[in-house]
Order: sequence, then structure tokens, then C-alpha cells
Amino acid sequence: MKMQDKPVRWQHFNSIDCLRHAVCDAIALSASRAIAQRGRFNLVLAGGNTPRAIYRLLRDLNMDWSKWHVYHGDERCLAADHEDRNSLMVEQVLLNHVAIPPNQVHHIPAELGPVAGAKAYAQTLQGLGSFDLVLLGLGEDGHTASLFPGHALDNSAHAVPVFDSPKPPAERITMSQQRLNDAQQVIFIVSGAVKQQAVDNWRSGVAIPATLIQPANGVDVYCYEVS
Ligand code: 6PG
Repeated sequence: MKMQDKPVRWQHFNSIDCLRHAVCDAIALSASRAIAQRGRFNLVLAGGNTPRAIYRLLRDLNMDWSKWHVYHGDERCLAADHEDRNSLMVEQVLLNHVAIPPNQVHHIPAELGPVAGAKAYAQTLQGLGSFDLVLLGLGEDGHTASLFPGHALDNSAHAVPVFDSPKPPAERITMSQQRLNDAQQVIFIVSGAVKQQAVDNWRSGVAIPATLIQPANGVDVYCYEVS
């Protein structure tokens, strides 16, 4: 893996509430800027529990939702209405409550299975240009989106199938490293002491999947309970 040579800006928060509000504010700022400059906001959402509470906060903001275009960094290959789908979580906490036009919500069709779903999502992403903001989580093993340690990475497509995820379910679809790196801004949301080893590795220059994410402007890492 390539060493990290783009800036990594670490921000530490004293409470989970402060972290959530800071991410919420950053999303709102990015949206306002993108809409003012280009008339649309291309946002990539992360799965996980930490983002869930942030999306819940977002829905109370006064935003021009009609300009939002929403994507996912990864998805689990489960039925569309399965409770572990990222798409369902985002619908329940955010999308069912705001006026983002349905044709601007781009869920990963992971119910089609890893190969067909990845192919379909790669087509959705074709010709899209840079994302304005990509939100990512960090797993205890350093994974981000569904880019896992020790896995061969296929960067030839925007979205790629994953067959042997160490974290269930085994079958997933993830945006490729290259696609995730094509972003104006990337924010990692990292909370919980269980992530400390992964953060220590990252800070000391040990390659983990998260260090694959090196967009031109570097990344911001918003942390709680890790040092
Ligand atoms: C998954 C999860 C996972 C998650 C990280 C961080 O697909 O299995 O979504 O990748 O993003 O484990 O999640 P937390 O922020 O909730 O710890």
C-alpha cells in the first residue's frame, strides 16, 4: 500500500455529542458551498452506528434538499428491506423525513448480488465527477467502506464486489479506492476506544485500508474516545 502523503487533519472531541454536531455542521457547510457553486451537492454516506445519529441530526436542518444527490460508500448484499442494510438505516433516520427527490437517492442495488449490483452501481457513478463530500467510518481492523485489510483491490471500476468480508455478511459492494478518492472533502468519523489500535497504526504510518483514502485535499478525521 502507498504511504500516506496527503494531509491528515485530526480533530478530537470531548463528547460524542460534540463530534456529532461538528460533523453535521461540516456537512451543512459543504452542502451550502457546493449548491452555491454548482447547484448540486454530491454526498457519499457511511454506514455504522456513529453516522446514524448524525443523519438523525441532519434532518432538522433547513437545507435546500432538492439539490442533494446521495450515494453510499458500501452496502451489504442482503434483501433491500433487511434491517442491516445501510440504505434502510438512512431511509429511516433521514431520507423519509426530508425532501430529497427520490431519483437523486442512489442506493447500491446490493440485493442483486455482488457482481450484478457492483456493475449496476458502477454505471450509476459513471461520468458523475467529483463528490463534494465523502463520509467514511473506521472499523477496528482499519477497514473503511468495505475495503478490508489484506484484500486485493480492484480499482478498475467505480464500484466493486466483495466476496469474503471478514465482517458479516461476507458479500458486499464497495466503492473502489479510486472512486472514493475523487472527492473535494473526506471526513472519517471515528468513535470508540476499540478503534485505538487502528488509529495508532494510522498515526504511526502503518498502512491500513483507511490510508488508501488520499484525496487531493487530504482527509479530516473526527475522533471521540481515541487519542
Ligand atoms: C459494516 C459497518 C462498518 C462500520 C465501521 C464503523 O458495514 O460492517 O458499516 O464498516 O462503518 O465498523 O462503524 P461505527 O462507526 O458504528 O463503529
